[in-house]
Amino acid sequence: MRLDKYIAANTPRSRAEVSKLVRQGAITVNGARAIKASQHFDERGDTVMLLGETVKALGETYLMLHKPAGYICANSDAEHPTVIDLLIARDSKKFAHPLPIEHLQIVGRLDIDTTGLVLMTTNGDWNHTITAPNKKCLKGYSVETAEPIDESLAVKFLEGIQLNNEKHLTKPAILRVLGNTRCELDISEGKYHQVKRMFAACNNRVTSLHRYRIGPITLDTHLEEGDFRLLTPSEIALNAS
Ligand code: URA
Repeated sequence: MRLDKYIAANTPRSRAEVSKLVRQGAITVNGARAIKASQHFDERGDTVMLLGETVKALGETYLMLHKPAGYICANSDAEHPTVIDLLIARDSKKFAHPLPIEHLQIVGRLDIDTTGLVLMTTNGDWNHTITAPNKKCLKGYSVETAEPIDESLAVKFLEGIQLNNEKHLTKPAILRVLGNTRCELDISEGKYHQVKRMFAACNNRVTSLHRYRIGPITLDTHLEEGDFRLLTPSEIALNAS
């Protein structure tokens, strides 16, 4: 494993900072001063120290957040509060060790006005198994619309909808009508504003959108809006299957 990659993954230091610290002689491997940030070491046997403290492997972090409206899915933003701000505000009350905020990736974004399940992880491969188009991971949404939802829409959504500025029809989506203007929709893609655009293409308008499921992981009904929890080992493993 490369020294800079390891330290950046397990401390708040960036890889650029690690390079600087190596030049300053602040990093050692088995007691010997590190020579370059790109040097390799054995994670199982070698001891890396930064400013006299051992750098321990944190392991990966996986969590689910119940996103409220008004927050955007970004790591930082000049205009709006972000889902990361929610974690920072509540983190210190929840865990003995701080979350690796700067290493968290958001797994499939929601619009600012959409509520519901947001997954975050430090594990890029795990993220990929959910978001890569070829994985066809189903996302479940509760939808409310301005106009009545015709039962015939289920067939249209299954066959695919032509969205503006898209080359291909949307992939088969499963619509369950629950009421006059209420339904659930499962989609396997994650195009920009996809659900809103699908309804708009059928002369309707989404007035409320809530994601309750990503693949086999369902939003924990005990989580209040704005609250989050770590995923259980079985939830983490479910995604890998
Ligand atoms: N589709 C949308 O239109 N918005 C979302 O936030 C998610 C899916």
